[in-house]
Amino acid sequence: SREYHIVVLGAGGVGKSCLTAQFVQNVWIEAYDPTIEDSYRKQIEVDGRQCILEILDTAGTEQFSASLPLTAHPNLLTSCVKPAAMRELYMKSGQGFLLVFSITSLSSLTELHELRDQIVRIKDDERVPLVIVGNKSDLEEDRAVSRSRAFAVSQSWGNAPYYETSARRRANVDEAFVDLCRQIIRK
Ligand code: GTP
Ligand code: MG
Repeated sequence: SREYHIVVLGAGGVGKSCLTAQFVQNVWIEAYDPTIEDSYRKQIEVDGRQCILEILDTAGTEQFSASLPLTAHPNLLTSCVKPAAMRELYMKSGQGFLLVFSITSLSSLTELHELRDQIVRIKDDERVPLVIVGNKSDLEEDRAVSRSRAFAVSQSWGNAPYYETSARRRANVDEAFVDLCRQIIRK
């Protein structure tokens, strides 16, 4: 079986860690505990092929620009390496990217443009495997991003697949990760 490196990116609080926890461990996490960086492994079968996914759950993008007090970082290495340099490193080693926003926040969608530009530049590949994930679909009454707006972004990125997910309800979570695996396999 082969190993695939997946990176989960997006603004703070959009649900990256909750989606990852649902996918990897089938658990729902209500509390908000901002991530520095966590990695997980999960074996899945995609089209009859065993795949081992190495999933990197990253810090919300604004964590990179805002200067967090360094003493707040429990991990010495993490606190010493410049956040921008860390981002560049995992973009280099990542093979597939889950770009997550919350359907309740338009700015969380806008933030993805910069991330996608950076991934394309670093991988030097316009067709890099990625999926756009609009999370918190259970909060329909708080929706701030229409489906058509998200599809317009998908089209402008060469028809990158778009999934609306709910980590809370575990809706479309496997689908988004499996789509990404397929893209990497077909690469
Ligand atoms: P950072 O690590 O700071 O970048 O945040 P994150 O993107 O990992 O967000 P996280 O998964 O920690 O979720 C943030 C908050 O949103 C938590 O309180 C979650 O319970 C909540 N949340 C996450 N996903 C959903 C969802 O699908 N629906 C609803 N209603 N809440 C969600
Ligand atoms: Mg997190």
